[in-house]
Amino acid sequence: MAVKPLGQSRNGIDESAVAEVVSLIPAIQKVGNDALRESVVLTWACSWKDSDYESLRDVLQGEGATKLLRHVNAVNDQVGYLVGLAEGTYGLQVDHDVALAAAILHDVDKPLLWTNDSDDKVIFRPGRSLRDHGILGAELAELCGVPQQVRDIVRGHSMYSDLMEDRRSPEAVVVHHADGLAGNLGALSVGVIPGCGRTMSVPAPF
Ligand SMILES: [Fe+2]
Ligand SMILES: [Fe+2]
Repeated sequence: MAVKPLGQSRNGIDESAVAEVVSLIPAIQKVGNDALRESVVLTWACSWKDSDYESLRDVLQGEGATKLLRHVNAVNDQVGYLVGLAEGTYGLQVDHDVALAAAILHDVDKPLLWTNDSDDKVIFRPGRSLRDHGILGAELAELCGVPQQVRDIVRGHSMYSDLMEDRRSPEAVVVHHADGLAGNLGALSVGVIPGCGRTMSVPAPF
């Protein structure tokens, strides 16, 4: 099956697709800025409609992994706590909307990376690999009007990204750790050894 060009569906997203995305990812409603919230919904709806999946509920994080939506919603929940920690305990200034939008979108490209074969096994779509992860999501987010500060966190959260070294903003740190925690707990839940190899760049010495 041919892979649709990135963002092909974005002009055909209807209200029912928007409502479905919001119902599946409730944290979207907590993004305060109207334009940002709409661009986040559009990016997810577009990823879904450009994918081979009838429902986002069917998408896995990867072969043998937990459901993607369970992971994404867990990351969104964790970001709320970690933003409070960053501000309340460490006195950091965090842009709530940027952190939450980046959390919601960090794995938005996964429906576009894989498909299910005739045996229902998860395989990469033609021409795609894990090296596209994060980069594809950021590109789709740009097509859907998501601002650069959010896109950079989406792109940089992937270990294959050229922005991986730039994770020094509070927003990027909270998304990174929320993702790692949810990813590791999800791995344990399906009997897989957590990916403790996740690395994080360390700020310059002070
Ligand atoms: Fe990811
Ligand atoms: Fe993730």
